[in-house]
Amino acid sequence: MEDAEWECTVEAPVNIALVKYWGKRDSELILPYNDSVSLTLDEEKLGTRTTVRYSASYEEDSLVLNGKPTVISSRLSNVIEEIRRAFRKQAVRIKMNAQDLMSMSRYRFRIETNNKMPTAAGLASSASGMACITFALCTALGITESVDMSELARLGSGSACRSIHGGLVQWEAGKEEDGSDSLAKQIYPASTWPELKFIVLVVDGEKKKVGSTEGMQRSMATSEYMLLRPKQCKDRIQEVCWAFQAKLFPALAEVIIKDSNTLHAICRDSYPPVNYLTRTSEALIDFVHRLNEALGDVCVAYTFDAGPNCFVIFEEKHESLLMWLLLHTFIENDVIDPTIHRQPKWDDDELAKYTAIIDEFSNYRNSVKSYYETTVGSGPKVVNAPRLI
Ligand code: DP6
Repeated sequence: MEDAEWECTVEAPVNIALVKYWGKRDSELILPYNDSVSLTLDEEKLGTRTTVRYSASYEEDSLVLNGKPTVISSRLSNVIEEIRRAFRKQAVRIKMNAQDLMSMSRYRFRIETNNKMPTAAGLASSASGMACITFALCTALGITESVDMSELARLGSGSACRSIHGGLVQWEAGKEEDGSDSLAKQIYPASTWPELKFIVLVVDGEKKKVGSTEGMQRSMATSEYMLLRPKQCKDRIQEVCWAFQAKLFPALAEVIIKDSNTLHAICRDSYPPVNYLTRTSEALIDFVHRLNEALGDVCVAYTFDAGPNCFVIFEEKHESLLMWLLLHTFIENDVIDPTIHRQPKWDDDELAKYTAIIDEFSNYRNSVKSYYETTVGSGPKVVNAPRLI
């Protein structure tokens, strides 16, 4: 059966860091300088789908990314080699018969992977992309249960290790030189807080100028603020876990907002400075603070990764108000659907308050080109289990 061809399809989600990973203690093994914590989003809208065909008769590994044949990067090639190594170890452990071991070790992979959102636009497509390929190859080789896939995905892109799990996920920086303790673990499942919602506002869907790998390298080399990060992140992660478990949104939101602001302050403090935020991003920050002031509590949080797009986090009960305001300020007008988006019922005071906010941000009308609404998700899933083709 040397020329048998197999196929499987999987999906993996984007994750959004609440306490950010920024800086590496080892660039080769992609070991982070600080712990981080994230929420995995529902893969339905923000995620990646990968189909892998594999056979011992294929001559080499290949990759088609978003429909285009693409050279396999050295990072991805590390991931593939590590997965092969993990498979061989596992095969020896379970005493797989020699013929199967020989044939499966010779599998070459034709990887076809598609992001559901703009690639490299600060929507964490590298996280879902690398997690998805890792999950697909481990599914193909039947080792999803016997290896720590977060360790393998990490070699492709640091933040990818967190997309291996659903819900609230922590990635520990670890101390070991070989990275064996730098793993991502689920802290709480997605079902803990189903009322949590996200709106991702796409400010600029273009490829960013300074990638996160380069940006964090620059910060490590030049920003003294980085020295505060390891301890600061540990403390903030504790607060996030506590607030998440108790479902205390204002406490959670405050940490999220502060950590996003810290990341971008560090970027500006780096030399030469890196600025990922645009005027629209800055206006969205002001908008969220204005809205929280009007609501009398921290009911809405924002966070930005290495890009201008805004991840807005809130509880379901504030959804219609938030959507209404965004649709009348930042989001392109032509997406308003009067059958879905109705003005919430307001008394006179509320009407005055919210109309004032709409007026204040009227200059930014149409500056958000598209948006995605989503929830917390439960992690990668198999769409089609391995089958002969
Ligand atoms: C700002 O995982 O893209 O999104 O490990 O070099 O591939 P590499 O970097 P990457 O960095 C993501 C940084 C961030 C924050 C975060 O996701 O924690």
